[in-house]
Amino acid sequence: MKILVVGGGGREHALCWALAASPLCDELYCAPGNAGIAEEATCLEIAADDVDALVKAASDKAVDLVVVGPEAPLVAGLVDALEAAGIRAFGPSKAAAELEGSKAFAKYLCDQHGIPTAAFQRFTDPAEAKAYVASQPLPIVVKADGLAAGKGVTVCQSHAEAERAIEEALVDKRFGAAGDSVIVEECLTGQEVSAFALVDGDTALMLPCAQDHKAAYDGDTGPNTGGMGAYSPTPLVDEATAEVIQSTILQPTVDAMKAEGRPFKGLLYAGLMMTPDGPKVLEYNVRFGDPECQVLMMRLMSDLLPALLAACDGVLDSFDMRWFAETAVSVVLAARGYPGSYEKGEAIGGLEALKELDDVIAFHAGTKADGDGTVRSNGGRVLTMTALGGSIEEARQRAYTAIDQIDWPGGFCRRDIGWHALGKLTIETED
Ligand code: AMP
Ligand code: GLY
Repeated sequence: MKILVVGGGGREHALCWALAASPLCDELYCAPGNAGIAEEATCLEIAADDVDALVKAASDKAVDLVVVGPEAPLVAGLVDALEAAGIRAFGPSKAAAELEGSKAFAKYLCDQHGIPTAAFQRFTDPAEAKAYVASQPLPIVVKADGLAAGKGVTVCQSHAEAERAIEEALVDKRFGAAGDSVIVEECLTGQEVSAFALVDGDTALMLPCAQDHKAAYDGDTGPNTGGMGAYSPTPLVDEATAEVIQSTILQPTVDAMKAEGRPFKGLLYAGLMMTPDGPKVLEYNVRFGDPECQVLMMRLMSDLLPALLAACDGVLDSFDMRWFAETAVSVVLAARGYPGSYEKGEAIGGLEALKELDDVIAFHAGTKADGDGTVRSNGGRVLTMTALGGSIEEARQRAYTAIDQIDWPGGFCRRDIGWHALGKLTIETED
């Protein structure tokens, strides 16, 4: 088969790595890809959100399956355009991608279909939003409705902070049209878990859960990022909890989308807060997480390609996937300054030697190779060092040992990835 992966981050490198290993995969393309992906796939110089050019390339190359990595092209309708051209695509339609594209739609869906989530109200009028906030306990959460590159959510510790967040979205238009309405919601407490399912419109086939680290710096401090590290499995989700997540959140969401006339196909990612009252939805994403995808692909024992095809073809009810029981840890190496402004074009050394290591892969994110083969930084998140180990300690140690072999003074990483799980394990042992 000929496969085209859309995107160019660590997530897409992990997907390309898994797909390239499939005996069913004859030719692999990636648009736009990166320096690491170029070792697995033929990279095409097409932006991930250039819907027309992607459909043309898939059609010209007679691609059998397009796998869409990031949310922007999904929300823009790439899958609809591909299917209209007769090309099979893994990912939700534009209507189903609203689950990530509009927080108001996600909240409506939960509300209508009894899916546990934080209590909320939606506003377009700043005065009404502020009056509501004044009547609510603190902290309180203000969210811009649309896609805001992870910057649209403020957990507010004071009413004044909440009023500012409302003004920024509704009056100053800081997020453009994505902030035409805001959601004001109850602040949930607990630890966060990323839950995933492959979905074929009817069936949610649950994958292992993972934990992400969204804050930029150690100890969960600093600004929010796309994710600085992840691990899977997580001690927060045992088999019984996974069953609760599947039966109260993942499958009900798929049923609800079908009932709403927007059947969901692709990868459903529910960002959950594990509250004392059980797991509740913080947000939905309509694609694999990054860097959660890297840890999942490292743990995947089965062939990825038939699983994605089963989701496209509506036969997931008779499908199963196998996973290594080991723990995978992924640590993001980012350019100093990320998630704010940062340098690009810096040489990154030490990558060749890592290829010799077992159980560690340097999945590339923002990288670009020079004509002479030098790998240079080309984005905020640059490498996602992903390791498998018999325990979280072992996987962490492998990932950090590999990171320490990278020669790139302009990079930084969190040193505490997996820390929550280790803290939790210590408490359990003491009990
Ligand atoms: P979201 O993009 O909706 O996942 O929000 C980004 C981050 O904001 C989440 O990962 C949480 O850390 C935090 N957050 C969002 N909603 C809530 C909430 N209702 N209560 C507490 N924290 C929240
Ligand atoms: N790591 C969080 C995300 O992919 O949205």
